[in-house]
Amino acid sequence: MTKYVVEAKVIGQRILNAVTKEIDLIAPQIAAQAVPGQFVNVQVSKRTAPLLRRPLGIAGVDRERGVIVLMYRVIGDATKILADVCSGDVISVIGPLGHGFDRTGKKPLLVGGGTGLAPLLFLAETMASEGIRPDVLMGGRTEDDLFWKELYMGIAGEIGLTTDDGSLGTKGTVMALLPGMLQAGGYDSVFVCGPAPMMKAVSGAVMEVGTPCQVSLERYMACGLGACLSCSCQGVGKRIKVCKDGPVFRAEEVTEW
Ligand code: FES
Repeated sequence: MTKYVVEAKVIGQRILNAVTKEIDLIAPQIAAQAVPGQFVNVQVSKRTAPLLRRPLGIAGVDRERGVIVLMYRVIGDATKILADVCSGDVISVIGPLGHGFDRTGKKPLLVGGGTGLAPLLFLAETMASEGIRPDVLMGGRTEDDLFWKELYMGIAGEIGLTTDDGSLGTKGTVMALLPGMLQAGGYDSVFVCGPAPMMKAVSGAVMEVGTPCQVSLERYMACGLGACLSCSCQGVGKRIKVCKDGPVFRAEEVTEW
């Protein structure tokens, strides 16, 4: 698949919760080609060193308007700079990068937490546009972490919610609801994206019941293009590059979370 280096105009940012923002960019070539699970590498500011790029999962596209949607946590220097970018600014974006989700299956379950719910949102929107409303299980520390549920309403089927403190949904992690959903849901595919311990636990439980499971790994990525090995980790019998071989893998291919 062709990768594009786009000088993308920012058309807006909005606050999703205290630490999470959405940025919308005009990048028609990327919007036209991107599939759920792929990411872009964003140069967060023209005023900083060119190497200051961050990989961000694509949270949605508007192909008619040529817009890509990214959602990110404001946690480090790079994302703090990105959070200050204004409408009309232009930033460099490379993409679409990596391999996305394999969308075979008619009865999917999506399981996510944190900004892992951003690429899953693109997946849910794509499935919904194809006539399949996936069930979604999402977990967070508190109710504030689960602002995502509003974004999934209308495109998801059943939505399961868990919080560590019990402020919304079932108290505990997604593992508190997962076994029951797997038993009752009749799923033929499970897609997972979120913190590593969550993905490890979820994929283990899903593989135990024999349902195909795909996970989207997160790693530090310096180049995003398969050239630097910064994202390399151990797969089954071989080293894998998360940026190029993934970020989506079949759960059984992953040995290092
Ligand atoms: Fe450079 Fe993956 S980020 S090889």
